[in-house]
Amino acid sequence: MLPRVVEAPEGKPVRPEAADNQRLMAEILDDTSCWTPELAKFTTEVFDAMAENWVDERGGYRAAPLVDALDRGCPSSSGRCLEIGSGTGVLTPYLQERWGDIVCVDLSMEMMSRRRMGSQVQADASRLPFSRGFVRRDRHR
Ligand SMILES: C[S@@+](CC[C@H](N)C(=O)[O-])C[C@H]1O[C@@H](n2cnc3c(N)ncnc32)[C@H](O)[C@@H]1O
Repeated sequence: MLPRVVEAPEGKPVRPEAADNQRLMAEILDDTSCWTPELAKFTTEVFDAMAENWVDERGGYRAAPLVDALDRGCPSSSGRCLEIGSGTGVLTPYLQERWGDIVCVDLSMEMMSRRRMGSQVQADASRLPFSRGFVRRDRHR
């Protein structure tokens, strides 16, 4: 548990399912074999189903932690930015302000198809289809 450093944006709901999701994420991080093709398929279906209402229901408050992270500890903005789990692109404009070249990756085509921007790749982040050094494009020039 990390201490809170940014107040929750107004209107951010506490979702009852969040604790279970966070526990599952912790389990997967602890033992990556928990991330199975079946779970990837289920996750895709869950987000496909949420895609239509995602921006309306959640778009207003999701940027706060990213904006804070970029303000306080932004890494070098040279090279490409790989946005993993970009979803509907709610956070993508904040990354585009710092990196000109964004590649968005998500399991759910329904989520990504809500907003077409940058380069979008449907892929599982556990098996990224990029070669080593892909994001450091500028350094190889
Ligand atoms: C909580 S949503 C966040 C979407 C967006 N970043 C936002 O803040 O609105 C998580 C996104 O990650 C995607 N996702 C989950 N697991 C993934 C994986 N293993 N590889 C790629 N995308 C994944 C989901 O499809 C979903 O769009």
